Amino acid sequence: MAEAKCDNIQMKDDMYGQREWKSFIFKPAEPENYRDILEHMRTSFYRDEPLNYLTGYSEEKAKDMDTMIMEYFQDGLSHIVLEKETNQIAGARIIAIHKRENADTPRVMESAEMKKIWPFLHQLDEDSNIFKLYPDMDSYVELFMASVDRRFRGQGLATEMYESAIPFLKSRGFRLVKSCFTSPFTQRIGKNLGFRELSRRYFRDYRDESGEVVFTNADDKDEAVVGALEL
Ligand SMILES: CC(C)(COP(=O)(O)OP(=O)(O)OC[C@H]1O[C@@H](n2cnc3c(N)ncnc32)[C@H](O)[C@@H]1OP(=O)(O)O)[C@@H](O)C(=O)NCCC(=O)NCCS
Repeated sequence: MAEAKCDNIQMKDDMYGQREWKSFIFKPAEPENYRDILEHMRTSFYRDEPLNYLTGYSEEKAKDMDTMIMEYFQDGLSHIVLEKETNQIAGARIIAIHKRENADTPRVMESAEMKKIWPFLHQLDEDSNIFKLYPDMDSYVELFMASVDRRFRGQGLATEMYESAIPFLKSRGFRLVKSCFTSPFTQRIGKNLGFRELSRRYFRDYRDESGEVVFTNADDKDEAVVGALEL
């Protein structure tokens, strides 16, 4: 049975097993799944998530993303979703723990695409300033990446991924869950689940250090919203 540490509480979690939902199986991401999940992310999230879509795909970017996800797997909270009948990956839910002591350590990105995306997300985090909002909280959890294979979209799978993560994370002793919603579809999910908006930015307004618009191909309505939910 998995164990997680949070704010010095160690909890056993009996919700962390395999379970079925409609024609899918939800299960914890185990080391033997990591390669398949990263492969799934390459055909789904790294191409279709709005900021990834706007900046395009490269192998260098995929490596940056893979490194980040491999690190978050170590937190032991991520999930994989399999189609029951075929055992194919239908989706993945990457969950990360953020600690106050690491809040100011910048992540170094190598690829041109992530050098555009990451500072934008970092700005949204700075706007949200979670550790200042919750001065007595030493860590919080982030619903970081939600990815559903193109073949399985529009059936409520992402909604279920967000919804089921909430009692699971609560049972693990977390007090706050945050998510950065960069897709209009996940923004709907966050709103429906009662996430409180902490910050919001339009992609097209974002400029780099020299004042140049970064996401030149963004639509006027494309935006990212950071939301938080107290558990
Ligand atoms: C975003 C993504 C995870 C959504 O997955 P999904 O399983 O199709 O989402 P759901 O079926 O649970 O739908 C969520 C909401 O979006 C709406 N929605 C989903 N697809 C839609 C579409 N093509 N057009 C209009 N609305 C849509 C649903 O109606 C639902 O809203 P509602 O409950 O108010 O009706 C999926 O499209 C994906 O993997 N995209 C690439 C990666 C990405 O963008 N991840 C999210 C980054 S924050």
